[in-house]
Amino acid sequence: MKILEIKNLRKRFGDIEVLKGIDLSLKKGEVLSIIGSSGGGKTTLLRCLNFLEKANSGEIIVAGETVYSANEGEKPVMSPEAQLSFGLVFQQFNLFPQYNVIENLMLAPKLRAKRQKNGESLDDIRARAEKLLATVGLTEKATAYPCQLSGGQQQRVAIARALMLSPDILCFDEPTSSLDPELTGEVLRVIRSLKDSERTMIIVTHEMEFARNVSDRVIFISDGIIEEEGTPEEVFSSPRSEKLRAFLSAGEK
Ligand SMILES: Nc1ncnc2c1ncn2[C@@H]1O[C@H](COP(=O)(O)OP(=O)(O)OP(=O)(O)O)[C@@H](O)[C@H]1O
Ligand SMILES: [Mg+2]
Repeated sequence: MKILEIKNLRKRFGDIEVLKGIDLSLKKGEVLSIIGSSGGGKTTLLRCLNFLEKANSGEIIVAGETVYSANEGEKPVMSPEAQLSFGLVFQQFNLFPQYNVIENLMLAPKLRAKRQKNGESLDDIRARAEKLLATVGLTEKATAYPCQLSGGQQQRVAIARALMLSPDILCFDEPTSSLDPELTGEVLRVIRSLKDSERTMIIVTHEMEFARNVSDRVIFISDGIIEEEGTPEEVFSSPRSEKLRAFLSAGEK
């Protein structure tokens, strides 16, 4: 089953078109890596999928249901549940500094429960938070504050926090690029373990070795379009376009 379909997504900032018609589909449990040089539109694509930016035109369809649709010059139509479909883990962790780890995990589900009639109980939310903390190997840090954690630990908290809302698709924007190499490994291990649990993920990364190992499919974005797409083997071992070849060989230096 297709969990995600993106049709002809376009995004402009002023006169500059940053996404020039992105078409993409993803099966449930699939892991897609996005690579590409700086300024190509990778972050903008993830932000449009998480509704932090509104695409100017195109459609976003989750599990067969159109959650976002826009036509140039018209007001976009967005379903009320759209936000719940996606989770995003940022490069800079973005934890709430004034809350401890377990509170960071519980905050959004608590707000959601408040809005619902028979919302999830506090005990249930706490139990899920504890379970997810164990998943990312941080049980003993439940009452620590973000400033007391290493970058790698903060990022693992950010991943657990994103999972608390059970998104259909979990997106990562360069989740290891603020980390030292030794901390990168622990975050990549957590992401890999999520793959084993059949989570659908979109990962923007410059870790080519990781992308090659963890992805089912890789796309190369350049100047707002998908320049090339394929299995990791196809993209990394036999790149077709000149741009992708140049991008890959620049990374090898
Ligand atoms: N809020 C904004 N206002 C104006 N221009 C923007 C805005 N956000 C992004 N852009 C522009 O859109 C283009 C794509 O940016 P984006 O951040 O999506 O690239 P990227 O592929 O994620 O790059 P990087 O690898 O450096 O993170 C850039 O030219 C950027 O300057
Ligand atoms: Mg970016």
